[in-house]
Amino acid sequence: MNILLLGSGGREHALAWKIAQSEKVDRLFIAPGNAGTAGCGENVDIKADDFEALKEFAVANSIGMVVVGPEDPLVKGIYDDFKNDPRTSSIPVIGPSKAGAVLEGSKDFAKGFMQRHGIPTAKYRTFTGETLEEGLAFLETLKAPYVLKADGLCAGKGVLILPTLDEARKELKEMLAGMFGNASARVVIEEYLSGIECSVFVLTDGSNYKILPEAKDYKRIGEHDTGLNTGGMGSVSPVPFATPEWMSKVENRIIRPTVDGLAEEGIDYKGFIFFGLINVDGDPLVIEYNCRMGDPETESVMLRLKSDIVDLFEGVADGSLDKKTIEFDERAAVCVMLVSGGYPQKYEKGYVIEGLDKVKDSVLFHAGTQLKDGNVVTSGGRVIAVCSYGQNREEALAKSFEGARLVNFTDKYFRRDIGQDL
Ligand code: AMP
Ligand code: GLY
Repeated sequence: MNILLLGSGGREHALAWKIAQSEKVDRLFIAPGNAGTAGCGENVDIKADDFEALKEFAVANSIGMVVVGPEDPLVKGIYDDFKNDPRTSSIPVIGPSKAGAVLEGSKDFAKGFMQRHGIPTAKYRTFTGETLEEGLAFLETLKAPYVLKADGLCAGKGVLILPTLDEARKELKEMLAGMFGNASARVVIEEYLSGIECSVFVLTDGSNYKILPEAKDYKRIGEHDTGLNTGGMGSVSPVPFATPEWMSKVENRIIRPTVDGLAEEGIDYKGFIFFGLINVDGDPLVIEYNCRMGDPETESVMLRLKSDIVDLFEGVADGSLDKKTIEFDERAAVCVMLVSGGYPQKYEKGYVIEGLDKVKDSVLFHAGTQLKDGNVVTSGGRVIAVCSYGQNREEALAKSFEGARLVNFTDKYFRRDIGQDL
C-alpha cells in the first residue's frame, strides 16, 4: 500500500520512521515533510491543508491511506472532504471527522462533552462578550491562580494562568475583546488543578480502542518548568505514576466513556485521541483533549510501540481494531529537543546543523529542518529531537544528552533537566 502522511514536524518524522518499518508499505509520501522525513519516504511539496492538491496527489499516486499528523487539517475537515469526494471516498483517512476534531477545536465543546458523559475534569463555565459581567463575578468565586482558556485553536498560546484576581479580570476582558481574534470570542474559566501531568494516547476505530504507551512532556522553555510555554522541550515514557492501577482508572473513567460518548453522539471518529491528564491525589482528571498525537510525546511513544503501526491503522480504518494486538517495548524511551536560541520568541533560521552523523546511540527526529545547498539547516524553533532507548530512564537520558552535545548549530539550546522531576 502507498501511504500519504501529512505534516512537517518531529511528530511526523517519528510517525514516518515507524510507518516506514511496516512491511505493508510500498511507498511512503510525506506532505510537506522536512529534511528528516526525506530519509523515510518521499517528501511532497503540498501543504497539509491544501485539500484539493492532496486529493489530486492521492488519486494520481494510488494512495491507500492518509495519516494526518497535525490538528489543523482535521479541524478544517480533511476527513469529511476526502469522504465526500467520489474520487477519494474509498481512501481511509486516519484522523477524526470535523465533528470529532471539535474535541480539540473548541474547549467549550470539550468541557460540555465531559460534563455530558461524567468524565472527570475541572469545574468550569464559559463566557462571551455579552456575559462578561457574569464572568467577572464567576472569577470572584474561584481561588487563585485563575485559568482562562480561549475556546478556539491558538497554536498552544490560548491558555492563561493568572496569579491574581486583578490580572484575571483584565485578561478576561482582553480575551473577550479579541486578544486571540475569533478564537477568544468565548472563554472557558476553570478551576485550577494542582498535580503532575501525563499524556495518554489511544487509537480508536469509533468503537474499539488500543491504548498506546503514555508519556510526559516538558512544556516550559526553562529548567525546572520556568519561563514561557513552548511546543514541548522533551518527553519521557513510561511515566512512573501511570501504574496499572492508575491506568485502569484512566481507562474506566476517561477513555471508555470518551469513546462511547463519541459514538452515542453520532460523531465519526477514527484516529488518535490524546488525553492531556493531570494526576490529582491519585485520581486522573482531563485537562484537555487533542485530536492527534502529541509532539514531542510521539517521538518517545513511537520508540516504545513494537507493533506494526500500519496494521493498527488498518484496524482503525475497517473497524477491526479489537482483532489487533498491541505490544510495547519494555525499555524506557526519552526525547530531548534541541531548539533555536530565542525560541519560543524571536529566533534566527538557516543555521547549518553539524554532527548529525556522529550520533550513534540515539534516533534523531527532525522537527524544524530543511535541506539547503546540500546542508541540513535550521528552519524552526524546535529543530532536532534526540531520542533514545535505555534499560531505564536515566540510561536513556544519558544517551540523549550525549547526542544533544554532538549535534551542533549556532545558538543551540536544550533543557538538561528532562525527566528529572519524576
Ligand atoms: P491546555 O492547552 O488546555 O492543555 O492548557 C495548557 C496547559 O495549561 C496545560 O498543559 C496545563 O499545564 C495548564 N492547565 C490547563 N488547565 C489547567 C487547570 N485547570 N489547572 C492547572 N493547569 C492547567
Ligand atoms: N505536547 C503537547 C502537544 O502536542 O500538544
